[in-house]
Amino acid sequence: MDSKFVWAVVSVVIVVMHNMQPAAALTHIVGGSFGWKIPPNNTFYDQWAKTHTFNLNDKLGM
Ligand SMILES: *[C@@H]1O[C@H](CO)[C@@H](O)[C@H](O)[C@H]1NC(C)=O
Repeated sequence: MDSKFVWAVVSVVIVVMHNMQPAAALTHIVGGSFGWKIPPNNTFYDQWAKTHTFNLNDKLGM
């Protein structure tokens, strides 16, 4: 493999990894105002999780 191609791939990977770093770690309050307890139905936390984007170093709170 052409070493220039390898370096191009490596630099793209480094840029992508850098961009994946969150600006600031967030704390997600599980369940929102409902809280973190036995849910009213089986899909409650699935629905909650779909409305959130989780990043590296984020925390879950309650
Ligand atoms: C589950 O319960 C939550 C909170 O009461 C409600 O908002 C949601 O629509 C319910 N989901 C289903 C599938 O019934």
